Amino acid sequence: MTPTGPAERTGPAERTGPAERTGPARVLGLFPPGTRQDGDGMLAVGGCRLDELAREYGTPVLVVADGAVRQRAHDYRERLAARWPDSRVVFASKAFPCTAVQRLMVSEGLGLDVAGGGEIVAALAAGADPATLVLHGNAKTTEEVQLAVRSGVGIVVVDNLDDIDRLEAAVPPGRVQACLVRVIPGVRASTHAAHATGHEGSKFGLSPKAARAAIARIEASDRLRMDGLHTHVGSQILVASELAAAVAPLAALGEFPVYDLGGGLGARYTYSDHPPTLDDYLDALIGEARRHLPPGARILIEPGRSLVAETAVTVYTVTTVKPGATTFVAVDGGMGDNLEVALVGQRFEATIADRIGGGFPVTVVGRHCESGDVLSADVPLREPRVGDLLAVPVTGAYCFTMSNNYNGARRIPVVFADAGQPRMVVRRDTWEDLLARDVHPSVPTPARR
Ligand SMILES: Cc1ncc(COP(=O)(O)O)c(C=O)c1O
Repeated sequence: MTPTGPAERTGPAERTGPAERTGPARVLGLFPPGTRQDGDGMLAVGGCRLDELAREYGTPVLVVADGAVRQRAHDYRERLAARWPDSRVVFASKAFPCTAVQRLMVSEGLGLDVAGGGEIVAALAAGADPATLVLHGNAKTTEEVQLAVRSGVGIVVVDNLDDIDRLEAAVPPGRVQACLVRVIPGVRASTHAAHATGHEGSKFGLSPKAARAAIARIEASDRLRMDGLHTHVGSQILVASELAAAVAPLAALGEFPVYDLGGGLGARYTYSDHPPTLDDYLDALIGEARRHLPPGARILIEPGRSLVAETAVTVYTVTTVKPGATTFVAVDGGMGDNLEVALVGQRFEATIADRIGGGFPVTVVGRHCESGDVLSADVPLREPRVGDLLAVPVTGAYCFTMSNNYNGARRIPVVFADAGQPRMVVRRDTWEDLLARDVHPSVPTPARR
C-alpha cells in the first residue's frame, strides 16, 4: 500500500487561505498529517488507502496514523523540556485507553495518567513503569487505592479527604506514597459545560481552603508525602490564556516540589476551529509558571485530546441515502463508536473517501435507535451513494474510550497505519463477545429462598 497522489497534508493544520476554503485541501487539513489523495481520488492515511483498509478489516474501522501520534508525543516532550527542563508529559490515557496507544506513549518517554483501576491495569499491561503513573479519580474506591499502592503507582492525586483515609489504610508500614492535591483554580473556561472542571462548584478537586486542610493532613502523615499540587481546567479549550489562568491560584498555597498543570488543549475538529498551536499553549502555560511557581519545581502536564484527536479517522460504509427536505446519509456505525456528538454536541466534518471537496449539504446519521444519533449535520458530500466509504476525521480522542454495544453494535477495530503498513491493534467485537458476560440460561441458577 504505497499510493502516490496529487494532494497531501504535510504539517500541522493552520488557517486556510481564501483559495483553500472550498476544495480538497480544506478537507485534507482535518486529516492526520501525511494523509494524501491517490490518483483516483481515494484517501490514504498513514500511506494506506482507505478502500484497501475497509476491504481488509471491514467497516466501521478506526484508522490511526501512528507515526503522527509518535511525532506529536515527541513534539510535546521536546517543546515542554525546552521551556522547563525538569518536566514530564503524562498522556491522559482516558483519551485513547488502548494498550497499543499507551505503549507508544511510553516508548516516546511519556508517563501515563490513569483514572481508576481499569486504566492502571491497562497501563501495566502496556509495559509502563508504575513509577511514571499518575492516578486520578473523584470517587476512587478502596479497591482502586489498594491496587495503586500495591502496583507502585508513582503519584496519587488526592481529590478529597476520603482519598487520604483510604491511602493511609492502604500504604503498608515503612512505605511512603507520593501525593498531589487537586485544587480547583476557580477558572471557568469557554468550553462545553460537561468539559469544564476548573470552576467553583466543580465535582473535581478541592477549593483552595479545603486544599489547605488536605495538605496539612498529608504533611502530618508518616505514610504519605506531600509532593505538590494538581489542577485541570477542562477539555477542548481553544484559548491558551484560559489554560494558563489555573497556574497563579496554585501559588497562594505555598511552594512545593511538583506541579501538575493538567491537560485540556483543544483539537481542530472543524474548518472553523483554530486551537492554539502547541508552542502558543506552552508559551502561555510556562510563562505563567515562570511568574508564579518556584524555579526548581518539577512540572507535569497531562494532554489527552490534543495528543491523539487529529491522528485518527473513522471509516464507515454508507448503507442508505434517504432524500427529502433533509437528505439523510446513514452509515453502518454511529453513537456506538462516537458518543462525542450526542454527549457534548461536538461537530465533526466528513467526506466520501474518494470524492473530496464540493457537494451539497446532507445529514450523516448512524444506525442506532436515537434521533440524536447524528454524526454530522449539514455536511457537504459529493454525490453520496449506497456502498460508498465515508471518512470522518479527528476521531482519535474519546471515541474509542466511549465505544459501546448499543443496539448490539460490535465495538470497532483499531488499525494503526504507517508508511503504507497497516497493523490491527484492537480487533472488532465478535458476536460471541456480545454474549460473553451473560450467565448462560441453560446453566441452572441456585433456587431462591
Ligand atoms: C485530570 C485530567 N487530566 C487530563 C485530562 C485530559 O484532558 P484533555 O484530553 O482535554 O487534554 C483530563 C480530561 O478531562 C482530566 O480529567
